[in-house]
Parts: sequence; C-alpha cells; structure tokens
Amino acid sequence: MKKYNVGIIGYGWAAGAHIDSLNKTPHAQVTAVFSKRKLDEAEVSAKHGGKIKCYTDFDKFLAADIQVVDICSMPTQHAAQAIAAANAGKHIILEKPMAMNLQDCRDIVKAVEKNKVKGCVCFECKFSGQMIATKALVDEGLLGDLHYAEVDYYHGIGPWYGQFRWNTSKADGGSALLTAGCHALDALLMFMGKDVESVASFSTKSKSKIFRPYEYDTSSVTILNFKGGKVGKCAAIVDCLQPYYFHTHLVGSHGSLLDDKFHSAKIKTDKGGWSKLNMKMLDSGDVSDHPYQMQFEAFFDALDKGRTMPLTSLRETLRSFEVIFAADKSAEEGGRLVKLSELK
Ligand SMILES: NC(=O)c1ccc[n+]([C@@H]2O[C@H](COP(=O)([O-])OP(=O)(O)OC[C@H]3O[C@@H](n4cnc5c(N)ncnc54)[C@H](O)[C@@H]3O)[C@@H](O)[C@H]2O)c1
Repeated sequence: MKKYNVGIIGYGWAAGAHIDSLNKTPHAQVTAVFSKRKLDEAEVSAKHGGKIKCYTDFDKFLAADIQVVDICSMPTQHAAQAIAAANAGKHIILEKPMAMNLQDCRDIVKAVEKNKVKGCVCFECKFSGQMIATKALVDEGLLGDLHYAEVDYYHGIGPWYGQFRWNTSKADGGSALLTAGCHALDALLMFMGKDVESVASFSTKSKSKIFRPYEYDTSSVTILNFKGGKVGKCAAIVDCLQPYYFHTHLVGSHGSLLDDKFHSAKIKTDKGGWSKLNMKMLDSGDVSDHPYQMQFEAFFDALDKGRTMPLTSLRETLRSFEVIFAADKSAEEGGRLVKLSELK
C-alpha cells in the first residue's frame, strides 16, 4: 500500500483531530504543518507522534515532500490555499465550508481539475455509522422513491465552542448554512439527488445575549424544490440551547425513516410502531467525535485506485455550495424563490 505524506495548513482545533485521524489510517503520515504562528516543532511532533516539520513560510511548506495538503485554516483562507496547493500538484483535503463565495468554490474545482489532482471536502458526517446505515436503507429501496425529506442541523455554537471567536464575523462565518448547516444540506442532497431547481429560505436569530456577537442570522430554514417535483427542507440552527441534533426524516413510496427508526411496507415492518435501527447517532459537535478517519481512508483508497473520491469530491460538493449560496441569496431577499439557474 502506498503511504502518503500529508501537510496540514492551520494548526487549530480541527487540525489536531485531523492529524490524529490521518495518522491512524494505514495510508498516511502527517509530516508537515504550516501555521503563521511559530510552533514548537519538538512539541508538535511529540504530541502527534512521528517527525513533523513546522513551517511559517507557505512556499517552503508547499515545496516539502508532501503529496497531500489538508486545509484546516479559517474559511476566508481556504480558496487561495487550495488553489496554490493544486497548482503545486498536491491532492487536497479541504475543511468545510469550501470557500466563502461561489466564485472561489468554482475556482478551487477548476484548479484541481486543471492540475489533475484529487480533492475532497470534510463532510465527514456522511461517513458516520448513522449516515452509512441510512443511505444503505435508501439505496436498498426499503423506503421506495423519496418525495419528501428533512435533514436539519441543530448545534448551538456559542462561546463554549473555540471557533466562536471568528465564527461570529460575517466574513468567516457567513451564514447559518455556510458555517455548519452545510453538513445537513449536503446530506439532504445525498438522499434526494442533486437536481435542485429552486430554493426559498428565511432566516432569523435568537434573542439570547449569548449569541449577540453574531453579525449574521444564526437560524435559517430552506425549502428546496427538485426537478421532477420532490421537495426537501433544511433547517440550520446554530443559536440553539439544546443537545446536538442531526434530524433526518425521509418519506418515500414504501416507507419512512425518522432518525434511528423506520417503517418499510416493502419488508412489511409493523406499521403500528417504528422498527429501531441500533446505530451510533451523530450527536456531538466535538471534532474528536467526528468520523474523519472513515472519510480519510475512503480518500486514500480512491487516490490509490486513481478514482474520484466517493460522496465528498470537490466537484460533487460544489453542487451543495451552489444550493447554499442560492438559499442565502433567497434569505437576504426575504424568502424570494431563487432558481439555481440564476446563479452567475
Ligand atoms: N467538519 C467539521 O465538522 C468541522 C469542525 C470544526 C471545524 N471545522 C472547520 O475547520 C476549519 C478550522 O476550524 P477550527 O475549529 O480548527 O478553528 P481554530 O480557530 O481552532 O483554528 C483556525 C485557525 O486559527 C489558527 N489559530 C488557532 N489558534 C490560534 C491562536 N491561539 N493564535 C493564532 N492563530 C490560531 C490556526 O492555526 C488555524 O489556522 C474551519 O474551516 C472550520 O469551519 C470543521
């Protein structure tokens, strides 16, 4: 099996979880970190195991013997760093959100495809036990043809969450969907397909003083119309005071799934009660609980086979961000129905 040297950009909270997950895969070893802060190389190496060279010069970092660059920096930095990494011939792992505007997202995909490197976006929730089992149920046809789906993201991102210090700004947070609800919207498209015709979105914010520093609306609800008539709904709520909740309700011609319960007329489960799926649920916003390792293993496996990354390739994820930018445009315009074809 080929072993990849990985260089990390940004050494914050997510980076720590990435390094440990990457090093746990049989395919990769983190050997370099780029951070504008001067890091203690011995300390970083000892913390994560192996020899990690720390760079403050971006060009020297990119010239290092690394085949993969993993971008864990703040969202406004993603586009320039991803494009530079692609131009240097590196494969890319990119934290969400891809970038803070649609043109930047498109430019990342263009740079990756031009340089014939591969990339993925960290929508690791798709590699959780909950999503893998749910997708298997859908793919098996146990719910039939889905005509309605709700996938919603409830996670209070307040001062107790490290990135609050920059997430509250419009520049780096963007919107409830861009900053975190994107996980749910992307999962919704995984179940319903990517043929979104139009969206209407409304947004608001909590009156709690905890969330007052936010420069943008921290709760939004988006209705999606799909070609062929299917309908979906995605709430993105980052100003709630409740446990983390990744609400999933899928409704199809043979049955329904609600989180960890389902009914399927196809296999004649008892309609008087739900049948229970005993699976590990997405129930935490803590990066150390996220299934990064599963996503990274799928990425390296795809690299080894010269294939496109399943479920989270940059090209595939671009569609999710097109829908998100259309939804945010709708919310800014008071809920006007925005056609995806309007996006420039
Ligand atoms: N996929 C997920 O579920 C998930 C979860 C958390 C974060 N993220 C994403 O990961 C990226 C990074 O987020 P994060 O939570 O690691 O943010 P962070 O604030 O911990 O780190 C972000 C950047 O700030 C720098 N930084 C951190 N501490 C610093 C300090 N004391 N002084 C100066 N600079 C410092 C880091 O080097 C890094 O470049 C973002 O794009 C975020 O959206 C994704």
